Amino acid sequence: MAKIRKAVFPVAGLGTRFLPVTKASPKEMLPIVDKPLIQYAAEEAEDAGVDQLVFITGRNKRSIEDHFDKAYELEMELESAGKHKLLEIVQNILPPQVHCIFLRQAEALGLGHAVLCARPVVGNEAFAVLLADDLIHSDGQGVVEQMAHMYERYGCSILSVMEVPPEETAMYGIVETRTGPSGEQLVTSIVEKPAPQDAPSTLAVVGRYLLTPGIFDKLEQTQAGSGEEIQLTDAIAALLADEPVIAYPFRGKRYDCGSKLGYLEATVEYGLSHPELGDDFADYLRQLVV
Ligand code: G1P
Repeated sequence: MAKIRKAVFPVAGLGTRFLPVTKASPKEMLPIVDKPLIQYAAEEAEDAGVDQLVFITGRNKRSIEDHFDKAYELEMELESAGKHKLLEIVQNILPPQVHCIFLRQAEALGLGHAVLCARPVVGNEAFAVLLADDLIHSDGQGVVEQMAHMYERYGCSILSVMEVPPEETAMYGIVETRTGPSGEQLVTSIVEKPAPQDAPSTLAVVGRYLLTPGIFDKLEQTQAGSGEEIQLTDAIAALLADEPVIAYPFRGKRYDCGSKLGYLEATVEYGLSHPELGDDFADYLRQLVV
């Protein structure tokens, strides 16, 4: 089974839930302690062996390109000031074997449309999709690596899923599953953002997908759906007629950094486990709550 070498990052969204900070800068550049969300996602893909990062960008997203680009002046400054540790941090943002490709999505027509924009670069191989505002912490393997192992075993599309409270189904793609021959959860239906009374289950898709290239033909045929956008969920529903799709309850803790509360939770927890800040930050929080 071929390895997963390409990962697609749809980053053209407007990030309206975080206005005004997202007026001129992308939500994917919001930091959790000292790293932007997009870097956490890129590192998760790289840890799984991905060596091509495909960003589907839009207006106001130049800082993402700059972040993954070489910063000559900064590197020279750090070098001559003898700040080697910082220099190393800056130089290691992109490992040498990893390449970035930036494609513009001229119109924000939805997640499905963004993924379809990657077709000329991805071609005829399976690929990962990561939504950077879903930040997932896992102690062992990252979620993309977990899914890549599933792919090696099953060779079909895989969706990361988690249980959500019934009142939250309208925020997610929701799947219905049945148990397959080796205990895997085979998706039998998927629907985008159903109201609680219409949801087939409380098993929600989070922002990690591993997709076979069969998804592209389905995306070509997908009409605007929920929210008047071309939905990846609808193309996956169409793919089910041709191929198996597995729902994978990943190991890890997911933070919804597309919401302010989830973003603050991630900031606090990553702050507490930060090697340099953790202890001082814990002391500070203790003082604050007494
Ligand atoms: C997107 C998908 C949805 C999925 C979610 C995960 O929605 O359309 O199916 O459950 O990401 O975060 P969004 O959060 O972009 O509205």
